[in-house]
Amino acid sequence: MSHDDQVRKLGKKFSSACHTNFGAALLSMRVRGFRGVPDLTLSFNSPITALSGLNGTGKSTIAQLAACAFRQPAGHSWSRYYVAHFFPVSVADPEPFTADAEVHYSYATEGTAAPQQLTVKRATKEWSGYKRQPQRANYYLGFTQFIPKVERRDLSVYGASTLVLGETRQLDTQAAGHVARILGLPYEQLGFADVSTTTKSSKLAMASRSGRTYSENHMGFGEGRVVYMVNTLETAPPKSLILLEEPETSLHGDAQVRLAQYLVDVALRRGHQIILTTHSAAILGQLSRESVVYLRRTATGDVTATHGLSTYQIDSHLQKEGRTPDGITICVEDAFAKCLASWIFRIADADLLSGCSFLTIGGGQEIPAAVKLLTDANRRAVGLSDGDMSHDGTGGVMTLPGSLPPEKEVFAHPAVKEYFANSPFSLDISEVLAGVANHHYYARALAARLMLEESAVASDACRAYAQAHDPGDFSSLIDFVRAHVGDRR
Ligand SMILES: Nc1ncnc2c1ncn2[C@@H]1O[C@H](COP(=O)(O)OP(=O)(O)OP(=O)(O)O)[C@@H](O)[C@H]1O
Ligand SMILES: [Mg+2]
Repeated sequence: MSHDDQVRKLGKKFSSACHTNFGAALLSMRVRGFRGVPDLTLSFNSPITALSGLNGTGKSTIAQLAACAFRQPAGHSWSRYYVAHFFPVSVADPEPFTADAEVHYSYATEGTAAPQQLTVKRATKEWSGYKRQPQRANYYLGFTQFIPKVERRDLSVYGASTLVLGETRQLDTQAAGHVARILGLPYEQLGFADVSTTTKSSKLAMASRSGRTYSENHMGFGEGRVVYMVNTLETAPPKSLILLEEPETSLHGDAQVRLAQYLVDVALRRGHQIILTTHSAAILGQLSRESVVYLRRTATGDVTATHGLSTYQIDSHLQKEGRTPDGITICVEDAFAKCLASWIFRIADADLLSGCSFLTIGGGQEIPAAVKLLTDANRRAVGLSDGDMSHDGTGGVMTLPGSLPPEKEVFAHPAVKEYFANSPFSLDISEVLAGVANHHYYARALAARLMLEESAVASDACRAYAQAHDPGDFSSLIDFVRAHVGDRR
């Protein structure tokens, strides 16, 4: 099954029979009065939820409070997480939460029953509300889930001279295969060995690769983290809650992509709910809209959650606030839409272009949310969605020319076909594109044939398309953007 199919299947399993497939999943949380989070409600709309946002926006706060949502099942080998574990009070931090701080949880229940609601709050000196919580195995894999033992001067290091290797529990072939795929390393075996000195005992991750065996004391940091993470996800009871702090740490970009694909796969296979904090656009890009929550701190100190917005560029864009105070941000779906819009502006109203900056959002459905986020942050912003997603200007969003995705609109235009049919290209683009099912790859396919960069092909095509029109053809689009540029121009 392709990754996209797995993502769709995961969403369906959650929306159709959440409790059957994932147990007493956490459906929503309202967090009041913790650290810098005054009052935030967020819902978990998929078995995987990625919390993204700038540093200090409350991602870890939410993940830590989610870890406190369940009682561990009977017989579980370690104790549960309590709010007090994550929010220590001392003279250094007299008030990490307010006197009336509370967390409200809602959990999936069987059949058509309403979700179970529960509040954990401070009753005089203790936190109350834990007793009625559902039982569910849960794991908080924070930054210390894998700390290199050599840095900790662990017994396997200081006791090296008397170290005895005991039994090794091998990871099953499938689990080892997941680690191998994420890291792109061909392991023969992965496991955990018992080790002991005369006085103490511990465990050590062990790997065999290309005929050599080495322990975690000689693993890369990313490698060690993935071995521990996959081991937890594969050996936890089914339908556990797994909290991952920035799982991208120390992983190469491609490995981050494959890790995110693995998370979708394991949630689907084992019924886990996974909540992660992340700064990785590579990870966010592999998840569905339902899996993505963007946290943002407003000027007044509130924290807001926007569901479904996977763009990470919004962060850096907002941080540039003030650098282009008179400009307007144009939110578009992708690089091709940006190219088309910029050529339309250049030809129909070049002045307008000089005051614009473009932001590619990634998904057309998310353009309205991105525009709202930017305007709420006092940036002037409009959205231009692809032609196949109709918008009439409401909420600051209009549609690019035509009723098709811009690639189809542009490459089907007679003027564009003629441009590439002529010297020096002499290429029948219809013939090349007939074999390309996904229009997002049109420019790439043509670029490969023409030995050019994809962006050069897109730019030539959009220019030919825009120049073949009368500037008046674009007047409704230009007037719309102009109206939003405001009177500061
Ligand atoms: N006592 C307090 N009162 C108010 N705000 C606090 C208090 N203690 C911490 N904070 C805020 O909480 C933030 C830390 O929250 P949290 O760890 O949840 O952020 P995060 O989104 O996980 O950040 P990062 O991306 O850096 O991991 C701090 O940056 C600070 O702004
Ligand atoms: Mg954090």
